[in-house]
Amino acid sequence: MTLPMSATPGSDGLLALVLVHGFPLDNEMWRPQVAALSGVARLVAVDLPGFGGTAPAAFTVDSAADAVAARLDAEGVNGRVVVGGLSMGGYVAMAFARRHPDRLAGLILADTRAEADDEAGKKARDEMIALAREKGAAGVVEKMMPRLLGEATREGRPAVADEVRRIAGRQPTEAVVFALEALRDRPDAGPGLGNVAVPTLVLVGEHDTLTPLTTAEAIGARVYGSEVVTIPGAGHLSNLENPEAFNAAVLAFLAEVKPGNTPVAS
Ligand code: MLT
Repeated sequence: MTLPMSATPGSDGLLALVLVHGFPLDNEMWRPQVAALSGVARLVAVDLPGFGGTAPAAFTVDSAADAVAARLDAEGVNGRVVVGGLSMGGYVAMAFARRHPDRLAGLILADTRAEADDEAGKKARDEMIALAREKGAAGVVEKMMPRLLGEATREGRPAVADEVRRIAGRQPTEAVVFALEALRDRPDAGPGLGNVAVPTLVLVGEHDTLTPLTTAEAIGARVYGSEVVTIPGAGHLSNLENPEAFNAAVLAFLAEVKPGNTPVAS
């Protein structure tokens, strides 16, 4: 299933919440959020280039952020929006904040980091690209699985792992390779975070080892007035592993973002 671009079409006056997926998934990873939050926000769950059945194309986190803005234009969402992203989606959300600050009402950064890849990180991306070319998205997600999901999820909730395999497994190799290049080459988002002037929520799975609490706190330290919330029992894919806690944190945050700042034209 690929979710429609706008999960609550025509919901006049509702704050728009744009959600950007992690790697190597697509917008369906937000299914628990779309189900729970569609009544309180106009959900816009986007697919990055090549994911979720869209056409593979080379991209950068900056061009992906511009594409999100263009999709909002196409959807007729002209007011300020809350942009939320998990991991790779967080890199794109930070790029959106840098490049389109006038369109931003709030920022949700889940299980992500501000820093660019260091040399070892870039080398690991190149190795992952080689793995993708050999074994496709399924091989990549298998390699990543121990770091994508927390141990409690992997051992106690195999359905979550199955869902992650199913979503990742359908992504084309070309899209996975383009995304790995975008991840490898992304800029340091740290300095730009000092300019973020909207309410910001930083979420992190309690057992996230890919982007642990220290990286969440480093983001929190750079964004004035931001709040860091830990999602209990979850690993890196905190929105899928503990949707109840994730959704509760997002709901509380959305209630803080002033509707008056966020007119939605539809
Ligand atoms: C993701 O979940 O999107 C990736 O782990 C991001 C990354 O590897 O930097």
